[in-house]
Amino acid sequence: MSFHDLAEARHSVRHYQPGLTIDDAALQAIFADVLLTPSSFNLQHWQFVVVRDAARKQALRAVSYGQQQVEDCAAAILVCGRLNAFEDAPRIYEDAPEALRAKALPTVAGAYTGQPALQREEAVRSGSMAAMSLMYAAKARGWDTGPMIGFDAAKVSALLGLDAQTVPVMLVVLGKALNDQQPARLYRRPLGEVVKLETQDGPALG
Ligand SMILES: Cc1cc2nc3c(=O)[nH]c(=O)nc-3n(C[C@H](O)[C@H](O)[C@H](O)COP(=O)(O)O)c2cc1C
Repeated sequence: MSFHDLAEARHSVRHYQPGLTIDDAALQAIFADVLLTPSSFNLQHWQFVVVRDAARKQALRAVSYGQQQVEDCAAAILVCGRLNAFEDAPRIYEDAPEALRAKALPTVAGAYTGQPALQREEAVRSGSMAAMSLMYAAKARGWDTGPMIGFDAAKVSALLGLDAQTVPVMLVVLGKALNDQQPARLYRRPLGEVVKLETQDGPALG
């Protein structure tokens, strides 16, 4: 499937065939692609919690404003970001060429240490990038998904046992659309409105 076809095929699916499961092998194939997502300084701030257990999905639905898809999906995947990912830089750069390591490690430490706002921004930025990869990787393998921010972050964090350094970024429900029905494509702003050339008040593309 070309990337264009993949982008056209992906929709936010809210109605899933209930009772469907996704096994570890299928998840591994999807996440192998997700791990190729870029991140600032290659810190890979993301962490995923995959919920397949029926009772836990039910509990998750209760703290997601009752949204049915959280219970009917095959897996509800909480995409998280780690605030302290920068502390892993020595391990991440362990096998990097010496010149790169010597430059990157002090830069990373200098940028993130004592900077909670940046730590959070980066956790959410990287997590969001990974969430998009997850949705395309799943679609490429025949799975539908839906991104969700409609949940109580504190309650979801407690339910899934997130540590104090990990923030929920987005929930991605994954399964197969009920009756193979794909939602209609919703309105998209025109290209000329969202893409400007050179400066924000420059000419519109196209
Ligand atoms: C960050 C984010 C949060 C969202 N939260 C929800 C949600 O809680 N519930 C829901 O039904 N859809 C949610 N959506 C789906 C959007 O409504 C959907 O992506 C948008 O309407 C465009 O539809 P499409 O993805 O099918 O093109 C969310 C999407 C994003 C990117």
